[in-house]
Amino acid sequence: MRLYIFPVTIHTENDGIFIFISAILCCTLEGSRACVRNYLNRYMATCVPGMEFVVVDEIKEIYKIINNISIKRGKVIFDCLTVDANCDRLRCIDNLYKLFRVFLVGRHKADLTDIGARVTDIDFETDSKAKRSIIVSASRSGKHTYSRYDVAYQIGRALVDTGRYVLGDNANHELAIRADIADDSCSIYKQLTSSQLRFRGEFFSAPGGLRPPIAHCLVRLSKPKSDDVFYDPFCGAGTIAYERSYFKSKKIYASDLNSDVLNIAKSNLKQSAIIFSADATRSMMKDRSVSTVVTNLPWGKQIAVEDIYHLYFCFLKELKRILIANGKAIILTDQVFIITSLCDELGTQCTQMTELSLHGLHPMVFMLQNNWEEGLSWTPPPA
Ligand SMILES: C[S@@+](CC[C@H](N)C(=O)[O-])C[C@H]1O[C@@H](n2cnc3c(N)ncnc32)[C@H](O)[C@@H]1O
Repeated sequence: MRLYIFPVTIHTENDGIFIFISAILCCTLEGSRACVRNYLNRYMATCVPGMEFVVVDEIKEIYKIINNISIKRGKVIFDCLTVDANCDRLRCIDNLYKLFRVFLVGRHKADLTDIGARVTDIDFETDSKAKRSIIVSASRSGKHTYSRYDVAYQIGRALVDTGRYVLGDNANHELAIRADIADDSCSIYKQLTSSQLRFRGEFFSAPGGLRPPIAHCLVRLSKPKSDDVFYDPFCGAGTIAYERSYFKSKKIYASDLNSDVLNIAKSNLKQSAIIFSADATRSMMKDRSVSTVVTNLPWGKQIAVEDIYHLYFCFLKELKRILIANGKAIILTDQVFIITSLCDELGTQCTQMTELSLHGLHPMVFMLQNNWEEGLSWTPPPA
């Protein structure tokens, strides 16, 4: 017999008035199915950490009725009855998974066989009697004497041993299984979205390019409207403008200094945007002609910039010139200090919307808004 102890939570208040202790003890007999929970309608969407709330909004908009929403870092978990048919309409997510089973696991290598044994009877709803090719991935957090690779291998081997599956590879498989181990619990999911979803099929990227789902989240944060005149002045491969074209607009403009990336943007965007070569600090857009800017500025790392402070200063002044009075700019950069101090200096309203976790960095999403009504004394520097 094994005794499993789930995490014990203790909440206290300083004055000692309120103390709450919760503990769940769970005993299982070896090989028994106790402490196994099966799920029918629970899903997990993954996304860049920091954008979970945007994903929740999108899921609610698409599926209307969802329940039991919970957010973990980079994950949104929810119950819904009608997910499978529409999952490729979710553009803010990296992937969507369906949860099948959660069970208790031991922490030692000797427990791996047990983990394998607990997945073999799961019906992954593959709609076929033929053998399915599978891949298995795993994540692990907490103290264990096995690795996530051991877990993935064990589950894959156990499933293949049933005779219902064969091993596939990343490029060729019909079923992708995911196991997430967190301390004493293991959750088993099937991936519903194809890996192509987040790369948008034939979309080409450029250095410093954003993953399309992140670009889509930025666009959603701008609250797109059908009469928007939209502009990305640091467009790179055009990822943000491409995601903006998913919504109605009056016009979409995109520009960049680098002619190589502009060629990539042209092949990505085709007729959906007006693409031109321009320095974002003197953009050629007319005064007060743009309602929404969404852009990913160079952070001075992957894309080298001689004087980043000067670039940001001139760009924020240019923003003041081109945005309509109640226009807004959603910008992504890790140069938080520069943006906040420049906004102070220029009298631009600046809101820090959310911090992302991306490639080991923590860029901030800002919303800048014009908060003046009178004409401008500043004119762009000569080209
Ligand atoms: C972080 S990347 C943008 C990537 C883009 N969001 C994407 O997903 O492909 C920054 C871009 O700014 C461009 N850039 C740098 N300085 C510029 C300037 N002064 N004016 C216009 N574009 C500039 C670079 O060529 C680069 O493509």
